[in-house]
Amino acid sequence: VPGEIYLDHNATTPLRREVRAAMEEAWGCYGNPSSVHQAGRRARDLVERARAQVATLLGASPDEIVFCSGGTEACALALGATKGPVVTSPLEHPAVLGAAAGRVRFVRVGADGRVDPDEVRRALSGAGLVSVQWANHEVGNLNSVAEIASVCREAGVAMHSDAVQAAGKTAIDLAAVPVDLLSLSAHKINGPKGVGALFVRRGFPYEPPVAGGHQERGRRPGTENVAGIVGMGAACEMARRELLPRRREVSRLGARFEAGLLALGVRRHGDRERGLAGTLNVAFPGVGGEALVQALDLEGVRASTGAACTSGSLAPSPVLLAMGMPEKEAREAVRFSVGPENTEEEIDRVLATLPGLIDRIRRHDPS
Ligand SMILES: Cc1ncc(COP(=O)(O)O)c(C=O)c1O
Repeated sequence: VPGEIYLDHNATTPLRREVRAAMEEAWGCYGNPSSVHQAGRRARDLVERARAQVATLLGASPDEIVFCSGGTEACALALGATKGPVVTSPLEHPAVLGAAAGRVRFVRVGADGRVDPDEVRRALSGAGLVSVQWANHEVGNLNSVAEIASVCREAGVAMHSDAVQAAGKTAIDLAAVPVDLLSLSAHKINGPKGVGALFVRRGFPYEPPVAGGHQERGRRPGTENVAGIVGMGAACEMARRELLPRRREVSRLGARFEAGLLALGVRRHGDRERGLAGTLNVAFPGVGGEALVQALDLEGVRASTGAACTSGSLAPSPVLLAMGMPEKEAREAVRFSVGPENTEEEIDRVLATLPGLIDRIRRHDPS
Protein backbone atom coordinates (compact mmCIF):
# COMPACT_ATOMS: atom_id res chain seq x y z
CA VAL A 1 0.00 0.00 0.00
CA PRO A 2 1.57 3.33 -1.02
CA GLY A 3 2.72 5.42 1.93
CA GLU A 4 2.34 2.58 4.40
CA ILE A 5 5.29 1.62 6.57
CA TYR A 6 4.74 -1.96 7.67
CA LEU A 7 6.61 -2.77 10.88
CA ASP A 8 4.52 -5.71 12.10
CA HIS A 9 6.25 -8.71 10.51
CA ASN A 10 5.82 -10.82 13.65
CA ALA A 11 2.04 -10.58 13.17
CA THR A 12 2.23 -11.56 9.53
CA THR A 13 4.19 -10.82 6.38
CA PRO A 14 3.24 -9.78 2.85
CA LEU A 15 2.70 -12.58 0.35
CA ARG A 16 5.66 -12.72 -2.03
CA ARG A 17 4.89 -12.28 -5.72
CA GLU A 18 6.63 -15.56 -6.56
CA VAL A 19 4.65 -17.41 -3.89
CA ARG A 20 1.39 -16.00 -5.19
CA ALA A 21 2.29 -17.01 -8.76
CA ALA A 22 3.02 -20.58 -7.65
CA MET A 23 -0.30 -20.72 -5.80
CA GLU A 24 -2.26 -19.31 -8.72
CA GLU A 25 -0.92 -22.08 -10.90
CA ALA A 26 -1.81 -24.65 -8.25
CA TRP A 27 -5.44 -23.47 -8.04
CA GLY A 28 -5.90 -24.97 -11.48
CA CYS A 29 -4.80 -28.36 -10.24
CA TYR A 30 -8.11 -29.56 -8.86
CA GLY A 31 -7.40 -33.24 -8.28
CA ASN A 32 -7.55 -34.76 -4.82
CA PRO A 33 -3.99 -35.75 -3.87
CA SER A 34 -5.34 -39.05 -2.51
CA SER A 35 -6.92 -40.02 -5.86
CA VAL A 36 -4.93 -42.51 -7.86
CA HIS A 37 -5.89 -41.16 -11.29
CA GLN A 38 -3.79 -38.62 -13.15
CA ALA A 39 -5.60 -35.53 -11.82
CA GLY A 40 -4.95 -36.78 -8.29
CA ARG A 41 -1.34 -37.61 -9.07
CA ARG A 42 -0.73 -34.11 -10.42
CA ALA A 43 -1.95 -32.65 -7.11
CA ARG A 44 0.08 -35.22 -5.16
CA ASP A 45 3.22 -34.20 -7.07
CA LEU A 46 2.69 -30.56 -6.07
CA VAL A 47 2.24 -31.50 -2.41
CA GLU A 48 5.35 -33.71 -2.41
CA ARG A 49 7.46 -31.03 -4.09
CA ALA A 50 6.40 -28.57 -1.39
CA ARG A 51 7.15 -31.14 1.31
CA ALA A 52 10.71 -31.40 0.02
CA GLN A 53 11.05 -27.59 -0.01
CA VAL A 54 9.93 -27.32 3.63
CA ALA A 55 12.20 -30.20 4.65
CA THR A 56 15.22 -28.58 2.96
CA LEU A 57 14.74 -25.34 4.90
CA LEU A 58 14.92 -27.33 8.15
CA GLY A 59 17.61 -29.87 7.30
CA ALA A 60 14.93 -32.58 7.64
CA SER A 61 13.65 -35.41 5.44
CA PRO A 62 10.42 -34.92 3.48
CA ASP A 63 8.73 -37.83 5.28
CA GLU A 64 9.21 -35.91 8.55
CA ILE A 65 6.97 -33.03 7.39
CA VAL A 66 3.22 -33.08 8.14
CA PHE A 67 1.14 -30.33 6.54
CA CYS A 68 -1.71 -28.75 8.52
CA SER A 69 -3.68 -25.52 8.80
CA GLY A 70 -1.05 -23.30 10.45
CA GLY A 71 1.15 -22.72 13.46
CA THR A 72 -1.69 -23.12 15.94
CA GLU A 73 -2.68 -26.52 14.60
CA ALA A 74 0.93 -27.66 14.35
CA CYS A 75 1.42 -26.88 18.07
CA ALA A 76 -1.90 -28.56 18.92
CA LEU A 77 -0.89 -31.69 17.01
CA ALA A 78 2.49 -31.78 18.74
CA LEU A 79 1.02 -31.44 22.19
CA GLY A 80 -1.94 -33.69 21.43
CA ALA A 81 0.36 -36.44 20.20
CA THR A 82 2.02 -36.72 23.60
CA LYS A 83 0.85 -37.50 27.13
CA GLY A 84 1.90 -36.43 30.63
CA PRO A 85 2.99 -33.10 32.09
CA VAL A 86 4.27 -30.45 29.63
CA VAL A 87 7.29 -28.53 30.83
CA THR A 88 7.13 -25.10 29.24
CA SER A 89 7.50 -21.40 29.98
CA PRO A 90 4.79 -18.80 30.54
CA LEU A 91 6.27 -16.88 27.57
CA GLU A 92 4.94 -19.34 25.01
CA HIS A 93 2.36 -18.38 22.40
CA PRO A 94 -1.30 -19.12 23.22
CA ALA A 95 -1.09 -21.89 20.60
CA VAL A 96 1.11 -23.87 23.01
CA LEU A 97 -0.31 -22.65 26.31
CA GLY A 98 -3.86 -23.38 25.17
CA ALA A 99 -2.99 -26.86 23.93
CA ALA A 100 -1.08 -27.61 27.16
CA ALA A 101 -3.84 -26.40 29.50
CA GLY A 102 -4.40 -28.73 32.43
CA ARG A 103 -1.00 -30.42 32.17
CA VAL A 104 1.44 -27.49 32.39
CA ARG A 105 4.53 -27.37 34.53
CA PHE A 106 6.10 -23.91 34.17
CA VAL A 107 9.80 -23.20 34.41
CA ARG A 108 10.65 -19.82 35.90
CA VAL A 109 11.97 -17.09 33.63
CA GLY A 110 13.93 -14.01 34.63
CA ALA A 111 13.27 -10.37 33.85
CA ASP A 112 14.96 -10.81 30.47
CA GLY A 113 12.62 -13.73 29.66
CA ARG A 114 15.44 -16.19 29.10
CA VAL A 115 14.59 -19.90 29.51
CA ASP A 116 17.45 -21.48 31.44
CA PRO A 117 18.29 -25.07 30.29
CA ASP A 118 19.15 -25.96 33.90
CA GLU A 119 15.65 -24.93 35.00
CA VAL A 120 14.27 -27.25 32.32
CA ARG A 121 16.53 -30.07 33.52
CA ARG A 122 15.26 -29.65 37.09
CA ALA A 123 11.61 -29.84 35.93
CA LEU A 124 11.98 -33.00 33.85
CA SER A 125 11.10 -35.74 36.31
CA GLY A 126 7.92 -37.49 35.13
CA ALA A 127 7.42 -35.04 32.26
CA GLY A 128 5.78 -36.20 29.01
CA LEU A 129 6.99 -33.33 26.83
CA VAL A 130 9.09 -30.18 26.90
CA SER A 131 7.84 -27.34 24.71
CA VAL A 132 10.11 -24.31 24.34
CA GLN A 133 9.72 -21.85 21.50
CA TRP A 134 12.67 -21.11 19.26
CA ALA A 135 11.98 -17.38 19.22
CA ASN A 136 9.47 -15.33 21.17
CA HIS A 137 6.75 -13.56 19.23
CA GLU A 138 6.61 -10.43 21.40
CA VAL A 139 10.11 -9.68 22.64
CA GLY A 140 12.09 -11.70 20.09
CA ASN A 141 14.11 -13.74 22.60
CA LEU A 142 16.01 -16.62 21.01
CA ASN A 143 16.05 -19.65 23.29
CA SER A 144 18.89 -22.15 23.63
CA VAL A 145 16.85 -24.80 21.85
CA ALA A 146 19.85 -26.96 20.90
CA GLU A 147 21.00 -27.12 24.51
CA ILE A 148 17.49 -27.74 25.89
CA ALA A 149 16.88 -30.44 23.28
CA SER A 150 20.10 -32.19 24.31
CA VAL A 151 19.03 -32.07 27.96
CA CYS A 152 15.68 -33.65 26.97
CA ARG A 153 17.32 -36.27 24.78
CA GLU A 154 19.63 -37.30 27.65
CA ALA A 155 16.65 -37.62 30.00
CA GLY A 156 14.54 -39.46 27.42
CA VAL A 157 11.82 -36.78 27.40
CA ALA A 158 10.27 -35.68 24.09
CA MET A 159 10.76 -32.09 22.97
CA HIS A 160 8.70 -29.76 20.81
CA SER A 161 9.75 -26.30 19.69
CA ASP A 162 7.39 -23.70 18.30
CA ALA A 163 9.57 -22.23 15.55
CA VAL A 164 6.84 -20.12 13.96
CA GLN A 165 8.74 -16.88 14.62
CA ALA A 166 12.19 -18.31 14.01
CA ALA A 167 11.91 -19.99 10.61
CA GLY A 168 13.28 -17.85 7.82
CA LYS A 169 14.72 -15.43 10.38
CA THR A 170 17.38 -17.64 11.85
CA ALA A 171 18.94 -20.84 10.50
CA ILE A 172 17.32 -24.04 11.75
CA ASP A 173 19.22 -27.28 11.18
CA LEU A 174 17.32 -30.21 12.61
CA ALA A 175 20.18 -32.54 11.74
CA ALA A 176 22.09 -30.77 14.51
CA VAL A 177 19.30 -29.97 16.98
CA PRO A 178 17.65 -33.08 18.47
CA VAL A 179 14.07 -31.81 18.85
CA ASP A 180 11.39 -34.43 18.16
CA LEU A 181 8.65 -32.05 17.04
CA LEU A 182 8.74 -28.55 15.56
CA SER A 183 5.98 -26.20 14.41
CA LEU A 184 6.01 -23.82 11.45
CA SER A 185 3.58 -21.39 9.84
CA ALA A 186 3.73 -20.14 6.24
CA HIS A 187 2.38 -16.64 6.78
CA LYS A 188 5.35 -15.52 8.88
CA ILE A 189 7.71 -16.14 5.97
CA ASN A 190 5.88 -14.37 3.15
CA GLY A 191 3.64 -17.36 2.51
CA PRO A 192 -0.15 -17.74 2.73
CA LYS A 193 -2.21 -17.73 5.90
CA GLY A 194 -3.94 -20.91 7.06
CA VAL A 195 -1.20 -23.38 6.24
CA GLY A 196 1.60 -24.73 8.39
CA ALA A 197 3.66 -27.81 9.04
CA LEU A 198 4.70 -30.00 11.91
CA PHE A 199 8.09 -31.69 11.79
CA VAL A 200 7.90 -35.16 13.36
CA ARG A 201 11.28 -36.82 13.72
CA ARG A 202 11.51 -40.19 12.02
CA GLY A 203 10.84 -42.96 14.55
CA PHE A 204 9.09 -40.65 17.02
CA PRO A 205 6.07 -42.49 18.51
CA TYR A 206 3.52 -39.98 17.22
CA GLU A 207 -0.10 -40.75 18.16
CA PRO A 208 -2.39 -38.69 15.88
CA PRO A 209 -4.66 -36.63 18.14
CA VAL A 210 -7.37 -36.25 15.47
CA ALA A 211 -9.12 -39.27 13.97
CA GLY A 212 -10.05 -39.42 10.30
CA GLY A 213 -8.58 -40.31 6.93
CA HIS A 214 -5.15 -41.61 6.15
CA GLN A 215 -3.74 -38.35 4.73
CA GLU A 216 -0.24 -37.21 5.64
CA ARG A 217 0.64 -40.85 6.37
CA GLY A 218 -2.08 -41.05 8.98
CA ARG A 219 -0.64 -38.16 10.96
CA ARG A 220 -3.12 -35.42 10.01
CA PRO A 221 -6.44 -36.38 8.48
CA GLY A 222 -8.25 -34.22 5.93
CA THR A 223 -7.85 -33.43 2.24
CA GLU A 224 -4.74 -31.32 1.80
CA ASN A 225 -4.92 -27.58 1.06
CA VAL A 226 -2.96 -28.07 -2.15
CA ALA A 227 -2.55 -24.42 -3.20
CA GLY A 228 -1.72 -23.35 0.35
CA ILE A 229 0.85 -26.12 0.65
CA VAL A 230 2.39 -25.09 -2.68
CA GLY A 231 2.58 -21.53 -1.30
CA MET A 232 4.26 -22.76 1.86
CA GLY A 233 6.79 -24.76 -0.14
CA ALA A 234 7.59 -21.75 -2.33
CA ALA A 235 7.89 -19.52 0.76
CA CYS A 236 10.32 -21.96 2.40
CA GLU A 237 12.39 -22.09 -0.77
CA MET A 238 12.47 -18.28 -0.93
CA ALA A 239 13.35 -18.14 2.77
CA ARG A 240 16.30 -20.44 2.23
CA ARG A 241 17.55 -18.68 -0.89
CA GLU A 242 16.78 -15.06 0.03
CA LEU A 243 15.35 -14.35 3.47
CA LEU A 244 18.10 -16.00 5.48
CA PRO A 245 20.94 -14.47 3.44
CA ARG A 246 19.23 -11.07 3.76
CA ARG A 247 18.91 -11.23 7.53
CA ARG A 248 22.07 -9.17 7.86
CA GLU A 249 20.21 -6.28 6.24
CA VAL A 250 17.36 -6.74 8.69
CA SER A 251 19.87 -6.75 11.56
CA ARG A 252 21.36 -3.53 10.26
CA LEU A 253 17.95 -1.89 9.96
CA GLY A 254 16.98 -3.20 13.41
CA ALA A 255 20.20 -1.81 14.92
CA ARG A 256 19.61 1.59 13.27
CA PHE A 257 16.04 1.62 14.57
CA GLU A 258 17.07 0.51 18.05
CA ALA A 259 19.75 3.20 18.30
CA GLY A 260 17.22 5.83 17.24
CA LEU A 261 14.60 4.57 19.69
CA LEU A 262 17.09 4.49 22.57
CA ALA A 263 18.04 8.07 21.74
CA LEU A 264 14.34 8.92 22.17
CA GLY A 265 14.47 7.45 25.69
CA VAL A 266 12.69 4.12 25.30
CA ARG A 267 12.82 1.22 27.70
CA ARG A 268 13.80 -1.94 25.80
CA HIS A 269 12.17 -5.27 26.75
CA GLY A 270 13.58 -8.77 26.31
CA ASP A 271 16.94 -10.45 26.18
CA ARG A 272 19.39 -7.87 24.89
CA GLU A 273 22.05 -10.45 24.10
CA ARG A 274 20.05 -13.11 22.28
CA GLY A 275 17.23 -11.62 20.30
CA LEU A 276 15.66 -11.98 16.90
CA ALA A 277 17.10 -9.35 14.59
CA GLY A 278 14.46 -6.74 13.84
CA THR A 279 12.08 -7.41 16.75
CA LEU A 280 12.02 -4.37 19.01
CA ASN A 281 9.70 -4.40 22.00
CA VAL A 282 9.96 -1.00 23.64
CA ALA A 283 8.07 1.47 25.81
CA PHE A 284 8.07 5.22 26.07
CA PRO A 285 7.55 5.82 29.81
CA GLY A 286 4.22 7.50 30.44
CA VAL A 287 2.85 6.68 26.97
CA GLY A 288 0.18 3.97 26.63
CA GLY A 289 1.13 1.40 24.01
CA GLU A 290 -2.38 1.20 22.56
CA ALA A 291 -2.55 4.99 22.15
CA LEU A 292 0.83 5.06 20.42
CA VAL A 293 -0.03 2.20 18.08
CA GLN A 294 -3.23 4.01 17.06
CA ALA A 295 -1.42 7.32 16.57
CA LEU A 296 1.22 5.59 14.44
CA ASP A 297 -1.51 3.90 12.41
CA LEU A 298 -2.99 7.30 11.52
CA GLU A 299 0.46 8.25 10.22
CA GLY A 300 0.58 5.10 8.05
CA VAL A 301 2.92 3.18 10.36
CA ARG A 302 1.77 -0.33 11.30
CA ALA A 303 3.05 -1.69 14.62
CA SER A 304 1.37 -3.52 17.50
CA THR A 305 1.24 -3.76 21.26
CA GLY A 306 1.98 -7.48 21.22
CA ALA A 307 0.78 -10.74 19.73
CA ALA A 308 -1.89 -10.25 17.07
CA CYS A 309 -3.97 -12.99 18.69
CA THR A 310 -4.11 -11.19 22.04
CA SER A 311 -4.06 -7.57 20.86
CA GLY A 312 -7.43 -5.90 20.90
CA SER A 313 -8.13 -7.67 24.20
CA LEU A 314 -6.88 -4.56 26.08
CA ALA A 315 -5.25 -6.88 28.61
CA PRO A 316 -1.53 -6.22 29.11
CA SER A 317 0.84 -8.65 27.40
CA PRO A 318 0.99 -11.98 29.28
CA VAL A 319 4.59 -12.34 28.07
CA LEU A 320 5.71 -9.10 29.71
CA LEU A 321 3.76 -9.87 32.90
CA ALA A 322 5.42 -13.30 33.04
CA MET A 323 8.77 -11.50 32.86
CA GLY A 324 7.78 -9.77 36.10
CA MET A 325 6.91 -6.40 34.57
CA PRO A 326 4.38 -4.29 36.50
CA GLU A 327 1.03 -3.99 34.71
CA LYS A 328 1.37 -0.25 34.11
CA GLU A 329 4.69 -0.71 32.35
CA ALA A 330 3.41 -3.70 30.35
CA ARG A 331 0.60 -1.48 29.03
CA GLU A 332 3.21 0.87 27.60
CA ALA A 333 4.76 -1.76 25.34
CA VAL A 334 4.91 -1.38 21.58
CA ARG A 335 6.31 -4.06 19.30
CA PHE A 336 8.00 -3.08 16.07
CA SER A 337 9.05 -5.97 13.84
CA VAL A 338 11.19 -5.10 10.86
CA GLY A 339 11.28 -7.16 7.68
CA PRO A 340 13.55 -7.40 4.65
CA GLU A 341 11.38 -5.13 2.52
CA ASN A 342 11.73 -2.19 4.95
CA THR A 343 14.20 0.57 4.09
CA GLU A 344 16.47 2.93 6.04
CA GLU A 345 14.36 5.78 4.80
CA GLU A 346 11.24 4.22 6.35
CA ILE A 347 13.00 3.69 9.67
CA ASP A 348 14.22 7.28 9.69
CA ARG A 349 10.72 8.54 8.88
CA VAL A 350 9.25 6.63 11.81
CA LEU A 351 11.98 7.92 14.12
CA ALA A 352 11.23 11.46 12.96
CA THR A 353 7.47 10.99 13.48
CA LEU A 354 7.65 9.50 16.97
CA PRO A 355 8.67 12.53 19.09
CA GLY A 356 5.61 14.56 18.03
CA LEU A 357 3.25 11.64 18.70
CA ILE A 358 4.77 10.85 22.08
CA ASP A 359 4.64 14.47 23.10
CA ARG A 360 0.97 14.73 22.12
CA ILE A 361 0.01 11.52 23.94
CA ARG A 362 1.93 12.52 27.09
CA ARG A 363 0.07 15.83 27.14
CA HIS A 364 -3.43 14.66 26.25
CA ASP A 365 -3.67 10.96 27.00
CA PRO A 366 -1.08 9.93 29.62
CA SER A 367 -0.93 6.26 30.54
C1 LIG B 1 5.21 -18.10 18.22
C2 LIG B 1 3.94 -18.36 17.50
N1 LIG B 1 3.39 -19.58 17.56
C3 LIG B 1 2.26 -19.89 16.91
C4 LIG B 1 1.59 -18.94 16.17
C5 LIG B 1 0.31 -19.33 15.49
O1 LIG B 1 0.48 -19.45 14.10
P1 LIG B 1 -0.77 -19.35 13.12
O2 LIG B 1 -1.13 -17.90 13.05
O3 LIG B 1 -0.27 -19.87 11.81
O4 LIG B 1 -1.86 -20.20 13.68
C6 LIG B 1 2.10 -17.65 16.09
C7 LIG B 1 1.38 -16.59 15.32
O5 LIG B 1 1.38 -15.45 15.71
C8 LIG B 1 3.31 -17.35 16.77
O6 LIG B 1 3.84 -16.13 16.73
